[in-house]
Amino acid sequence: MTLTETGLERQRRIALDIQRRLVEHIRTGGTDLEAGPVQNAAERYSSWEWYRLEQDRVFTQLPLLVGMSRDLPDPGCKLLFDAAGPPIVIVRQQDGSLKAFLNMCTHRAARLVNECTPARRMTCGFHGWTFDLDGKLVGQPGGKRGFAGLDKAEFALIEVPVEEWHGLVFVIARPGTRADIDVAAYLGTFAPELAQMGFERATPVIQTRLDVAANWKYAYDTYGEGYHFATLHPTTIARTAHNDMVVHDRFGLHARINFPYRDQDVCVGQSEDQWVRRPYGGVHLLFPNTVIYVSSIGPGQVFSIYRVFPNGGPDNAFSLMAAYRSGEVPDDVDMQPWRDFHDFIMNVVATEDYSISASGQRNLRYAPPGFKLTYGANEGVLQHFHRNLARQLGYND
Ligand code: FES
Ligand SMILES: [Fe+2]
Repeated sequence: MTLTETGLERQRRIALDIQRRLVEHIRTGGTDLEAGPVQNAAERYSSWEWYRLEQDRVFTQLPLLVGMSRDLPDPGCKLLFDAAGPPIVIVRQQDGSLKAFLNMCTHRAARLVNECTPARRMTCGFHGWTFDLDGKLVGQPGGKRGFAGLDKAEFALIEVPVEEWHGLVFVIARPGTRADIDVAAYLGTFAPELAQMGFERATPVIQTRLDVAANWKYAYDTYGEGYHFATLHPTTIARTAHNDMVVHDRFGLHARINFPYRDQDVCVGQSEDQWVRRPYGGVHLLFPNTVIYVSSIGPGQVFSIYRVFPNGGPDNAFSLMAAYRSGEVPDDVDMQPWRDFHDFIMNVVATEDYSISASGQRNLRYAPPGFKLTYGANEGVLQHFHRNLARQLGYND
């Protein structure tokens, strides 16, 4: 790396490095391997104790990705986030910064915001208390009669830590202040990988929700290995990607995976200067529950964000699946190819990955005591993820 390397040069260099490693795997039939298989207790996917521990120490403690900057482009725009537990509203301020609050009126706790339409005020649907964008109580019907003696300043909305970082918006899903969240520190060595992507200008295309009768980790695990492509995805993903071949890189809690596509087979035996260079891409696994899949379709780049959340207990989860179009693509280009790409992935995930997740989860509930799931040496990203998760929950295994 040179000191004067630009972001684009850096991405090209990394893309070429990944391509070299992928082509080598295609040539040899290899894959990135760990020292050996690792096992994990079935109860970690099925017990209420483990579920509660995850709620307390993961989903309400760590920065979670809630969207991208252009989900709330203008002052007064809002983004609702209920998925981690406490209902939260993120609000674009007059000065362009973000604030986040519990989506809870400070009178008697009714849900305050239900729509993301831009407005300068937020008015509660119960008794009409009204708050401005930075959370101050500014209107209170009948206030003089009913609430004399109370200090309005004490009834500001309850803040939640929020940070906008290179086009990505994160919150910690509990009360707190801006000082409680430090996204760059949380991302650590993953930060430079994500900072250059141009997320700031990405345009939202579509978001869909997928429910699955499985533990959130069972669903999330399906994004972290390519060992199942030939058997579970024979007519979809396996048509274009090699089975059981990955290149992966770890960045602290996080990881990136790349799969070799068959259109690169031709590179084997060619000299590097004959290769069709691939644009930067990859499956970025952002701990604990998020996938940022960067890929290219015919007319441009697509950023797919898949987040998996527990849904009220150990045996149920849901995914929020969103597609964004890269800001490099001119506004007048038809969105349809991005929607088609999203729909293709949604269909594969729903009918293949999450279908097998649900059947596995049902079996785990009835598995004999002591049953363990096994992550092979060829499923290194899963080993990495579960090791990090256990540590976050206070277990060192
Ligand atoms: S609960 Fe919101 S105004 Fe009463
Ligand atoms: Fe899959």
